[in-house]
Amino acid sequence: MKTVCVITGGGSGMGLAAAKCMPKEKIIIVTGRTLSKLEKAVQELKDLGYEAYAKTCDTSCRSDVIALAEYAASLGEIKNVIHSAGMSPAMAKAEQLMRVNALGTVYVNQEFSKRMGRGSVIVDVSSNSAYMLPEFLASKKTFALAETDEELFLKKSLKLSAMLKDPYKSSGLAYGLSKKFVIWYAAKCAFEYGEKGIRVVSLSPGLIATDMGKLEAEEGGSLLKTTAEKRMGKPEELGYALATLADERNGYLAGVDILCDGGSVNGKKFIG
Ligand SMILES: NC(=O)c1ccc[n+]([C@@H]2O[C@H](COP(=O)([O-])OP(=O)(O)OC[C@H]3O[C@@H](n4cnc5c(N)ncnc54)[C@H](OP(=O)(O)O)[C@@H]3O)[C@@H](O)[C@H]2O)c1
Repeated sequence: MKTVCVITGGGSGMGLAAAKCMPKEKIIIVTGRTLSKLEKAVQELKDLGYEAYAKTCDTSCRSDVIALAEYAASLGEIKNVIHSAGMSPAMAKAEQLMRVNALGTVYVNQEFSKRMGRGSVIVDVSSNSAYMLPEFLASKKTFALAETDEELFLKKSLKLSAMLKDPYKSSGLAYGLSKKFVIWYAAKCAFEYGEKGIRVVSLSPGLIATDMGKLEAEEGGSLLKTTAEKRMGKPEELGYALATLADERNGYLAGVDILCDGGSVNGKKFIG
């Protein structure tokens, strides 16, 4: 029987690149908010020989995520979820970034894990921006509120970014915090869902030449100096990394973040 792989943010960028690296025996569902983009992605996947479907879903809306998970389960056994949907500082203000990147990850992990079983995997996409954020700014007590009191979680998380006058800096701080949350939450879920045999990992890309990456390149460009090869990553490189993490054969990789950033975070230690 064919198994199902769901890719949020699968209409473009590294999500779509990951879809193209998945085994052809799987049913691929690409999801995002823009149907036209998803339909184009599905056509590309069909041309490559995949059985693929488009389903719109705003991952910051729990009822959308529930409908997506139910749809995926109706097609077969959900084995892989690659949660690549996300927004960056140039795309949205602080609150929307927290809702999409942080709370969206809660909805995806919670709703899919209810419908997944032994030998399945969730890969959550974070960012190397999470590594730039000083540790003391990421309160684990505040993070825990995301599951119990969303409004208080948002209020506490957005307090600091609201104090920054520069809109890009304010969004940038919220983005870093939202992605730090993703790493923490993926690790938490790995230990929670582990007994059910669901593996959870996160992956933090550096600056990647997707639509989003190009938009952020001006601000994040300084990071390129500290990459090993002094270049942006290619979407297909990240697609391959995501598909590898989502591969059932990688069964012992759980509860960690994989920093796939061309060396930019570690390069800071060697290049002034
Ligand atoms: N590119 C980089 O340099 C970089 C660096 C670090 C981390 N990342 C992370 O990598 C992930 C993939 O980004 P990308 O570079 O591949 O950019 P991308 O091509 O812009 O892909 C992001 C996808 O997410 C979807 N999306 C955005 N908000 C959504 C929402 N609320 N609900 C459902 N789908 C939503 C978008 O489709 P719609 O707009 O149609 O919904 C889009 O297809 C993101 O999580 C991003 O934060 C990227």
